Amino acid sequence: MTKLVILEYPDPRLRKKATAVTVFDDALRHFANNMLETMYAAKGVGLAATQIDVHKRLIVLDISERRDQPLILINPELLKLEGSGPGEEGCLSLPGIYDKLSRATHIRVRALDCKGESFELDAEGLLAVCIQHEMDHLEGKLFVDYLSELKRQLIRRRLEKERKQRSTGSELRVLPLGAAAPGAPMRRSSTPAL
Ligand code: NI
Repeated sequence: MTKLVILEYPDPRLRKKATAVTVFDDALRHFANNMLETMYAAKGVGLAATQIDVHKRLIVLDISERRDQPLILINPELLKLEGSGPGEEGCLSLPGIYDKLSRATHIRVRALDCKGESFELDAEGLLAVCIQHEMDHLEGKLFVDYLSELKRQLIRRRLEKERKQRSTGSELRVLPLGAAAPGAPMRRSSTPAL
């Protein structure tokens, strides 16, 4: 299997809208497995094809503790969205950035599997959040789009600084919680990245 490169915000390729998957062959199954491998290696709980610069409607997820319950959703459609509640989200395309936003708490989704067969899934809690987050990626949308422009600016600056530090090999300094400026995005390593 191959680990794929995950695009990072604000890469404009994250803004492309994905098109439907129409061919269900070995290449698609191989690709879905590589996506899972990439997600597990990055310690994420979800990944959309958009994030690895493939603009097809395919997402992979695994919210299980033991990382042994992979889910592949192809051409997913939301059939039902109910309730609304705040939760904290992160994203593999925005490493180290977490913030709170509101999502539907109960959803029903219809999708195809790798053989092109249709199935429906009811989800709540973290899985419901994760599916909505990954489906946003297929529309070119990121969770920071729900935040204020000021917060997005702070996030862009922080990521840029960290990328520079990574490229020069200097150590990442992680601010302790509470040390960030008011309104700055917080880090909480316990929140899974999606
Ligand atoms: Ni994400």
